[in-house]
Amino acid sequence: MSLHLKIALISLISILLPLSSAVFLIQNPILSLILGITVSLLSILILLRIVKPLDTLLKGSQILSDGNLNYRVDIRSGDEFEKVGTSFNSMADILKKAIERLEQDKGGIQTERNTLSIVLSSVVDGIVALDTSKKVVLVNKAAEGLTGFTLSEIQGKPINQFIHFFSETEEISPKGYCATTFTQPLTLVGKDGKQNKINLLASPVPFDMQANLSCILILHDLSSEQELERMKLDFVSMASHELKTPLTNIIGYLSVFIDENKDKLNKDQFELLDHSLVSAKQLLALIENLLNVNKIERDQLSVIIEPTDIGNILTKSVEDLQNQAKQKNITLTLTSISGLPKVLADPIRIGEVVTNLVSNAINYTNPGGQVAVSSQRMGNELITTVADSGIGIPEEAIPNLFSKFFRVSNNLQKASKGTGLGLYISKSIIQKLNGRIWVESELGKGSKFHFSLPIAPQTNLGSIDSDKFVGQAIQKGALNY
Ligand SMILES: Nc1ncnc2c1ncn2[C@@H]1O[C@H](COP(=O)(O)OP(=O)(O)OP(=O)(O)O)[C@@H](O)[C@H]1O
Ligand SMILES: [Mg+2]
Repeated sequence: MSLHLKIALISLISILLPLSSAVFLIQNPILSLILGITVSLLSILILLRIVKPLDTLLKGSQILSDGNLNYRVDIRSGDEFEKVGTSFNSMADILKKAIERLEQDKGGIQTERNTLSIVLSSVVDGIVALDTSKKVVLVNKAAEGLTGFTLSEIQGKPINQFIHFFSETEEISPKGYCATTFTQPLTLVGKDGKQNKINLLASPVPFDMQANLSCILILHDLSSEQELERMKLDFVSMASHELKTPLTNIIGYLSVFIDENKDKLNKDQFELLDHSLVSAKQLLALIENLLNVNKIERDQLSVIIEPTDIGNILTKSVEDLQNQAKQKNITLTLTSISGLPKVLADPIRIGEVVTNLVSNAINYTNPGGQVAVSSQRMGNELITTVADSGIGIPEEAIPNLFSKFFRVSNNLQKASKGTGLGLYISKSIIQKLNGRIWVESELGKGSKFHFSLPIAPQTNLGSIDSDKFVGQAIQKGALNY
């Protein structure tokens, strides 16, 4: 029986019952009583049939909302309540499946989160994620170690309240973190002023409404690398110094011996000793180069800048190398040095540069070639040029030419011995003296190495004798070559 029919029946009974009771009460009170009781029982029964499924539905929804998603209602009233019961059960089925799917997704998200957290904490570099207002979103274990702050201490707070990055000259503002490429190491200042040298790699995060991330900072700790580098420099410095003294003695003894016994030695003996002397000198030059590189790397290359007569230095270097050039049948000339203004430079260091360039020119020029040294004023600078008619330098090698240990790798070049340090040292010296060094070259035709130095201003200093300056500097122990 449908629900409407049941309600209609109850309504009908509630109208008919008082009417019929009134009619029968007058004629037959007993019949009226029996009829009254029967009709009342009938309406109670019908009412119960309405209330029971309602009650079942109510209980069912209560149990479901308490979390028992397996509970289903059992209504077989054959009316709309049975249909509501069926819909209730299928709704419970859908709810159960949806919740199961959510649980699965939650498990997946948790696994992903765990994996990400393991990856982040295993990365040896520090990682700091910042939101669009430069507040800390996340730091990994390595970043906690470097900064001294734990994630809970700084999460959600502006990074610059806790962590600061300094270049050599200034503090980097948080706005600049992701807008700049940092080529030089920075100093990170963290908790209680804790400092670390780091390389900072900052990458902007593409805009995403949900993520609200703006920038990821990668902090590469340089302290262990610096320690290793320092140990390497210490070792090279110590080994070079230890080798230098006995080698200088060997060269001294050999020179004296050869000089004193020139007449007594036969040709073979003389050549043997002479080769030993040349090799010992080459070894000493290498050790001196290593010591110089060591000083450059430690930023301890000392220069004493003073008004310097470059003409004297060029003359001396060319004289010293004349023999080497003659042995190779190379014409070595020095031109246009008269009337040159003084430059602001370190005479001894400039002598080293000129010697490096001229001996390169001799080394990398075939017999019969020419090497010419000259100097000329250009504005506020004096440009010195060492030109040769040698083998030249391939275009692709030129950008690396002034790098440490770089040598051109063609056969002609390989034939000549060298360590690839001369030009690196020369460039470092010239830069220290506020000058520039560069090269023009054509393969097979020759090369021109130029370096510039600032001209000394025409003040009282201009008349000061450079030899006197060097003498004073050596006396004071300032020149520690
Ligand atoms: N004048 C030149 N002509 C041709 N190649 C040159 C010339 N000068 C330098 N080079 C090339 O540049 C390289 C680097 O020169 P650099 O003086 O630094 O080292 P090196 O001469 O090899 O060794 P060393 O440290 O003993 O000077 C050389 O190996 C050579 O290949
Ligand atoms: Mg050289």
